[in-house]
Amino acid sequence: MLGFLAEAGEAFVSGEAISDKLGFTRAAVWKHVEALRAQGYRIDAVPARGYRLAAIPDRLTALELRPLLDTHDVGQVLHAFEVVGSTNDHAKGLAEEGATHGEVVIAEAQTSGRGRRGRAWVSPAHRNAYFSVILRPDLPPARAPELTLLASVAVCDALRQAGVQAGIKWPNDLLAGGKKIAGILTELSAEPERVHWVVVGIGVNVNAGPEDFPPELRGEATSVAIERGEPAPRALFVAACLTALEGWLDRHDEEGFEVIRQAWRARSDTLGREVMVRTEGQEVVGVAEDIDDAGALLVRRGGRGGELRRILSGDVQLLRAR
Ligand code: BTN
Repeated sequence: MLGFLAEAGEAFVSGEAISDKLGFTRAAVWKHVEALRAQGYRIDAVPARGYRLAAIPDRLTALELRPLLDTHDVGQVLHAFEVVGSTNDHAKGLAEEGATHGEVVIAEAQTSGRGRRGRAWVSPAHRNAYFSVILRPDLPPARAPELTLLASVAVCDALRQAGVQAGIKWPNDLLAGGKKIAGILTELSAEPERVHWVVVGIGVNVNAGPEDFPPELRGEATSVAIERGEPAPRALFVAACLTALEGWLDRHDEEGFEVIRQAWRARSDTLGREVMVRTEGQEVVGVAEDIDDAGALLVRRGGRGGELRRILSGDVQLLRAR
């Protein structure tokens, strides 16, 4: 019932529609409403209009998340913690012990949240979303970067659904208003021909306020709440991310990387811009022209007709504001 009400968003659902859809009597619908209210869910009930989910408890436990997930794999097994060192580290341990495709590790806080290139990921308790998804794709390791780009497309969709005009900075930083709102850290274990597992770690600044960021990050980081001007229900947001992730994983399985590449391009904040990329001790300045069929960034140096550099990994700085 919770999933049904959540799907309706801000619309009312009639008691009749709920009993028809879920096969409950009208009295049972009312009993479930009362039970949900007792757990902290706010449900509006208006005669002749029906029921509306007005607020859900701001906790990220299996109890809140499970009913919101309309997925077949992703998040069906959920490991939820109050605090961990890093959800990626925990997920890697589970993957080594044989965890299945789609298992998710989520925590309310991380004591050693990690970002790309050995940086720390600021992870205050009960404010944001920190989770890692274990994947067992049928891919050679050289194609694993496709999953990183895929994850950035999924998180971008969830952010836009939450009302934030987000874009992607290559390869997988999510920006809003030129500031970082989410990041993705992908780690994997593989042998030359086959990936054993991939852990996609996603950190989204959901309800962090400026005071939650250390002073040196305040000019560079933002959150969903800062962008929207009001807090967002975190469980709904995480469920939207996981649902979008599974949707894009299915499309990737069926149609291959090209569909992800097109979706990434359409959400990119990088293409067509002048950039500086730090890569393997070098700095490459030029215009980011495209990503190729392996997800590498193509940067044209020295204007039209200049050399095209193919960059497989690096840190991009956008040189001019839009
Ligand atoms: C980046 O932009 O540098 C990537 C940040 C990734 C942060 C997430 S939070 C959940 C998961 N656990 C971690 O320790 N890191 C990732």
